[in-house]
Amino acid sequence: MALCIIFARTENHCIGHNGQVPWKLPSEYASFEQITAGKAIIMGRRSYADHHSLLEGRFNIVVTRNADYPLVEGIQRASDLDEALSLAAEYADKNTAADYFVIGGVDLIIKSMPLAKTVYETIVHTCITGDTFLPNFEFSGWSTEIIQNQAVDQQHAYAYTVYKHQRA
Ligand SMILES: NC(=O)c1ccc[n+]([C@@H]2O[C@H](COP(=O)([O-])OP(=O)(O)OC[C@H]3O[C@@H](n4cnc5c(N)ncnc54)[C@H](OP(=O)(O)O)[C@@H]3O)[C@@H](O)[C@H]2O)c1
Repeated sequence: MALCIIFARTENHCIGHNGQVPWKLPSEYASFEQITAGKAIIMGRRSYADHHSLLEGRFNIVVTRNADYPLVEGIQRASDLDEALSLAAEYADKNTAADYFVIGGVDLIIKSMPLAKTVYETIVHTCITGDTFLPNFEFSGWSTEIIQNQAVDQQHAYAYTVYKHQRA
């Protein structure tokens, strides 16, 4: 079993604005769905509030310090990253799902980065004035491949590249 992280960020490291992902890139979302299908996914409470629903076909874990925060049925609550990682690893073990994922936001990605074996990083080829930014993560020393490249077209206002970084 291995902890993975998946996120999409712009060239200026923006991942969010006003509680939402500030772009619509259908094939990038399809890639996210395919990579995380059947897996445990860990998200912060603000990321959950973006959609307020179960992401179907995955074991959803929301991290919040608020024991009363309302979650829709079927979503697991964790009070910190350690608890979330335990729940995710337990699910992966029971379901012979090799990987489990942290999918954002900032604090959970930063805290889980030292533990991650694989990072799926989409770079959206634009700069955005958002309100939620990741730091610059350095992947030199990791093994990196490009798994998707998308040009601008009618459905995609921005080009993007999906990188898969595996810890050497
Ligand atoms: N582009 C992408 O790939 C991507 C991915 C995910 C999210 N986003 C965007 O990013 C924004 C949300 O990210 P964010 O960083 O602001 O918020 P977030 O991490 O999604 O949520 C923050 C909240 O989660 C809980 N939390 C986070 N870390 C915790 C920890 N270590 N221990 C306990 N609780 C913890 C706390 O909830 P309580 O306050 O309830 O205690 C905290 O206030 C949105 O705009 C979203 O759309 C983008």
